[in-house]
Amino acid sequence: MRVPTGIPGLDELIEGGIEEGTTNLITGKTGTCKSIFCMQFLYNGIMKHRQKGLYITTEETATNIKRQAARFGWDFETLEKKGWLIILEFQPFDVQTLTTKMVEAVNKIDAKRIVIDSVSMLELYIHDTFEIRKGLFKVVQKIRDMGKVGLFTSEVQEESNNLSRFGLIEFMVDGVIVLQYMGLAKYKRSLMVRKMRMTNHSSNIHPFEIGNDGMRVLPIRGG
Ligand SMILES: Nc1ncnc2c1ncn2[C@@H]1O[C@H](COP(=O)(O)OP(=O)(O)O)[C@@H](O)[C@H]1O
Ligand SMILES: [Mg+2]
Repeated sequence: MRVPTGIPGLDELIEGGIEEGTTNLITGKTGTCKSIFCMQFLYNGIMKHRQKGLYITTEETATNIKRQAARFGWDFETLEKKGWLIILEFQPFDVQTLTTKMVEAVNKIDAKRIVIDSVSMLELYIHDTFEIRKGLFKVVQKIRDMGKVGLFTSEVQEESNNLSRFGLIEFMVDGVIVLQYMGLAKYKRSLMVRKMRMTNHSSNIHPFEIGNDGMRVLPIRGG
């Protein structure tokens, strides 16, 4: 079964949505709309598909997440009160408890869509790469076993061409979507599906824009 992202223009590039039981990395430099992507994914899940959501934030406060969401008319405050959404602030120091906390929250509301924004923070705080790998692998496995859909974000540095900070996470996930910002181009923002297992996906670079109601991927000729 596929889970539509609900992001206009995106689902038709990935055979209708993201496969259940998979985890997917949304990667890009700062300000490329990784967090907005995740918020929109959860919001659409709740409003259009009756799938509850969990947003684990390691960088920003829950308050800031709600404020950004509110700019697009996504009332996260109310969704939380209704028990359709949980926003969980997670201290990135100990990756061992990440799985436990995630599963606890998922079970509490029976969430289908899980966001971890971002995993770069884990990579930054925990210097033992074996520990991170083990921890993240557990999370990936758990999401698969539970049949949920996971989105991780990863922030890459300005001058970098990597898909994540330390090049760990992109090998564990089933899908990678790269977001870009090119200040001088006609279309400033673009999206590319770098990999998505079990999916015949577009390999083009697709422009997208941010409107009053979130992201919208624009059509390209032959895309
Ligand atoms: N209401 C809005 N209208 C247009 N663009 C916005 C709006 N809100 C945020 N943005 C753009 O989105 C960017 C932040 O997106 P975000 O998802 O937080 O980035 P990331 O998580 O990749 O760092 C801002 O830098 C701004 O360019
Ligand atoms: Mg962000």
